[in-house]
Amino acid sequence: MPSSDPPRPRGCCSRCCSSLFTLGFLILIYWLIFQPHQIRVYMNSATLSNFALSDAMLTYNLSLNISLRNPNRKIGIYYDRLSAAAFYNGLQLGPAESSFFEPFFQHTKNTRMVYPVFEGSQGDLSKDVKDAFNKDKNDGAYNLDVKLNAKLRHKVWFIKLSFKPKIDCWLRFPLTANGSASMAAQPVPRKCRVKY
Ligand SMILES: *[C@@H]1O[C@H](CO)[C@@H](O)[C@H](O)[C@H]1NC(C)=O
Ligand SMILES: *[C@@H]1O[C@H](CO)[C@@H](O)[C@H](O)[C@H]1NC(C)=O
Ligand SMILES: *[C@@H]1O[C@H](CO)[C@@H](O)[C@H](O)[C@H]1NC(C)=O
Repeated sequence: MPSSDPPRPRGCCSRCCSSLFTLGFLILIYWLIFQPHQIRVYMNSATLSNFALSDAMLTYNLSLNISLRNPNRKIGIYYDRLSAAAFYNGLQLGPAESSFFEPFFQHTKNTRMVYPVFEGSQGDLSKDVKDAFNKDKNDGAYNLDVKLNAKLRHKVWFIKLSFKPKIDCWLRFPLTANGSASMAAQPVPRKCRVKY
């Protein structure tokens, strides 16, 4: 009888199951021992000036002060990649050179500040962007999004786990009463959304 055939798939399946079980067990142990927390990101201050629409150009000068907090007591974090991008109604505000940061290692319970700046002007505006600008102007506040692109490694002994969290900060810049083009976002500091 072909009794030697069935055991092989069963053996493979159980090996598969036991390695899955082991992996799950290791992850559980990791969570129990190290109690990992996500990084916390805050927009400390944001200043927008020279924000104007003329003909088909949008000019801007956006300076940000953002803090990145490693709240963990037992896990150091490598920031292998970190960059910031700013958007106005889907239009990316360049240049982005000033907003790529050198890789760094963040110790436990540590806060690091980064200061992205977006300064310049952008042509080729879509009708949506122009309409949004005029609408925001009438409403008395400009809304911008800032996204951070990060590649992180959590380091625990010899184990390193990689993450690519999505970080989103929403900014609302009320026009000053005197119509000045220089504005601070309110309210700050504000927590940004971090999604692993
Ligand atoms: C950035 O914000 C933090 C927290 O409010 C503050 O301590 C720090 O001085 C600010 N940095 C600059 C350059 O303004
Ligand atoms: C852009 O804004 C920063 C601070 O908000 C300021 O130091 C800088 O001079 C501004 N640049 C221009 C071209 O206005
Ligand atoms: C207009 O707004 C700017 C920026 O907030 C401020 O520096 C300036 O003092 C204001 N001028 C008046 C007359 O209120």
